[in-house]
Amino acid sequence: MKVVTTTAELRIQLAESRRAGKSVALVPTMGCLHAGHARLIREARSLADIVVVSIYVNPLQFGPSEDFSRYPRSFDADAEICAVEGADIIFHPHNLYPEDGPKVTLTVRELGDSLCGATRPGHFDGVATVVAILFNAVQPDIAVFGEKDWQQLAIIRRMVADLHMPLEIVGVQTVREADGLAMSSRNRYLNDVELEKSIALSAALRAMQTQVANGERDVPAIKAVGHRLLLESGIEPEYLDIRDAGSLKALDSLNGNPARAFVAARIGRARLIDNIPIETMTETP
Ligand code: PAJ
Repeated sequence: MKVVTTTAELRIQLAESRRAGKSVALVPTMGCLHAGHARLIREARSLADIVVVSIYVNPLQFGPSEDFSRYPRSFDADAEICAVEGADIIFHPHNLYPEDGPKVTLTVRELGDSLCGATRPGHFDGVATVVAILFNAVQPDIAVFGEKDWQQLAIIRRMVADLHMPLEIVGVQTVREADGLAMSSRNRYLNDVELEKSIALSAALRAMQTQVANGERDVPAIKAVGHRLLLESGIEPEYLDIRDAGSLKALDSLNGNPARAFVAARIGRARLIDNIPIETMTETP
C-alpha cells in the first residue's frame, strides 16, 4: 500500500495500472476511519482492481462555527484499517485548494437546501466541490459512498448525472453498533451517558418504519411516533422527517415511491445524523 500526498504523484502511481487496463475504485473519506468506512473499502475491493482511499478533512464543507479544527485526525490508525481492508493507495493531500483559496466551486440547487443543508448553508457545495476535485484527481471508474449520509449520496449521484461524469456511484448500507447507533467519526465526541442517549435516534427511525409496515401512510402521524420516542429520551431533534428517497422532496403521505426517514440531533458536543428506508407498498389497482 502506498501513501501519496499530491495529485501529480497519484497520477504517476495510477498511470501504469491504467495502461494495463485495470479498473480503479475511489473511497472518499475524512479519516478517523471506523467499521463503516471499512465496509466501503471492502466493497470497493470487491468491485475494482485498484482501490484508492482518500483521507482529507475538507475545510470547504465546514461552517465557520463548526468542528473543522477539532475534527478527529488519526492517520496511523486509518492507514492500518486501509491496509487490513486491502487498499492499494491512500491519497492524503495536505491541501486541495489554491493558496489564495478556491475561486471556482460547485453549487448544489434544491437538493442541498433541506435537511442538513438547512442548518449547514454551503455544506453540500463544499462536499460537491471536493468530491469533483477528487474525481478529477483519481479519475476512478467507481466511487463508493455510505447510505449513512443519504443526502450527500443523492447529491453526488445527481452531480455525476448532471455534469456527465464518467463513473459509477455505489451506495453501501449504514453500518451500526449492536445497539443500532449508526457508526460515525463524531461518535468519539460522546461520553457514556450521551452514547446511551443517542441510541434513541435509530430507535425513533425504526419505530417510524414499524408504523409504516403496519399500514400507516400519513406522514405527520408517522413523525409523531418518532418525536415521542426522542422526547422520552430528552432529545430535541434538529429535524425528523420523511422524504422521497430520490428527490428528497417533503411528503404529506406515502405514495408508493421509495421514501426514507431522516433524523439529526445535537447530543453533547456532537451533531449526529441517521436515516432508514421506509417500506411502501405499491397500491394494487
Ligand atoms: P466521512 O464522514 O469520513 O465519510 C466517508 C464515507 O463513509 C461517506 O461516504 C459516508 O457516508 C461513509 N460512512 C460514514 N459512516 C458510515 C456508516 N456508519 N456506514 C456506512 N458508511 C458510512 O462523508 C464524508 O466523509 C465527506 O463528506 C466526503 C464525502 C469525504 C467529502 O469530504
